[in-house]
Amino acid sequence: MEKIPVAGPSITQKEIDYVTDAVTNAWYGDANVYHERFERAFANYLGLSHAVALPSCTSALHLSLLALGVGPEDEVIVPDATWIASAAPITYVGATPVFADIDQKTWCLSAESFEECITAKTKAVIPVDLYGNMPDMDALLEVAARKNISVIEDAAEAAGAEYKGKRAGSFGDIGVFSFHGSKTLTTGEGGMLVTDRDDLYHRVLFLRDHGRKPGDTQFWNHEVAYKYKMSSMQAALGLAQLERIDELMDRKRQIFQWYRVELSDIEGLTLNPQPPTTKNAFWMITAVLDPRLGIEKDYLQRELSKRNIDSRPFFHPLSSMPAYQYLEQAREARERNHVSYRICPYGINLPSALNLTRGQVTIVCEILKSLLEESRLRDQSAHSLSTGD
Ligand SMILES: Cc1ncc(COP(=O)(O)O)c(C=O)c1O
Repeated sequence: MEKIPVAGPSITQKEIDYVTDAVTNAWYGDANVYHERFERAFANYLGLSHAVALPSCTSALHLSLLALGVGPEDEVIVPDATWIASAAPITYVGATPVFADIDQKTWCLSAESFEECITAKTKAVIPVDLYGNMPDMDALLEVAARKNISVIEDAAEAAGAEYKGKRAGSFGDIGVFSFHGSKTLTTGEGGMLVTDRDDLYHRVLFLRDHGRKPGDTQFWNHEVAYKYKMSSMQAALGLAQLERIDELMDRKRQIFQWYRVELSDIEGLTLNPQPPTTKNAFWMITAVLDPRLGIEKDYLQRELSKRNIDSRPFFHPLSSMPAYQYLEQAREARERNHVSYRICPYGINLPSALNLTRGQVTIVCEILKSLLEESRLRDQSAHSLSTGD
């Protein structure tokens, strides 16, 4: 059997045509034609005034923190359960990350934990729309507004998701997206920063082009800054993908439904949350096992891999990573964040590529079910041995 990949894009003739046109024509005076179209279409899609195409979501987060004036002495709150890219830019600007717990119901930042982590130094919060789901935004935004904390919504994984009818990425002062090759809407590598605030938009344009004014032709630099730009070919690819976003979303929802039909009645297994407030974008179909089953994610991944099925681990708590062991904040987070430590070790991302077939989903689910059954039988016989039944 051919390997079933964990992720993969949907590329049609539209993408090929746009990229071909960009590589042929988008040079010199026309170098920004596709950026402008992609940025305008993306901002319109979210109902916001500004969008800036960037080389990655990591660079979008970096620029967001810089534009908001976050620096040394400041603290920024992030959920413990996320990819390190949500937090690493906090260190780039010399600030300190504070790892708050996630909410059992959404797998995203808990508003209670966020509030508990606030100190006089807290300058910003980065809620993450994990795996395409969204946090309780009303509660988070209420705390942030009351405490005067800036909000950067990390919607890297959530293009197409909605909370109470409003699109992911459009909450907070700034929203950021990733178009990495594994994402639903992809440019290979790439990102987007979106905002309704003119001041932040102008600061970002300036910082992302070596501290010169937009449109400058005299190569005149006012500050030492950064070079964060997407290529025209990527912008063309992104535009084509964005024009197909409804189709891509329908496909992800269809894949989730296939898994749900196969796995919803398996005891001790929970699939991606679907809070009534939220339209989950299901970037990665994710299964979390009840810790009482005693089956950890690395065992499942190893067994699936032996059967040619690719998967990914649920993100490890950032506070458990060697990268953050130097921080007192990580030690406190390990003691505080019970939900993250209960979910992260027992979750895996299942194959979620856009070209996955119904038949492949059945294969994955059959294997998963047989692994759970084997483990149940093993437990039963160990129990009978120990009790002499
Ligand atoms: C939650 C989250 N934030 C940020 C990023 C960073 O995105 P990029 O790889 O485009 O820098 C990712 C990427 O996977 C992510 O999943």
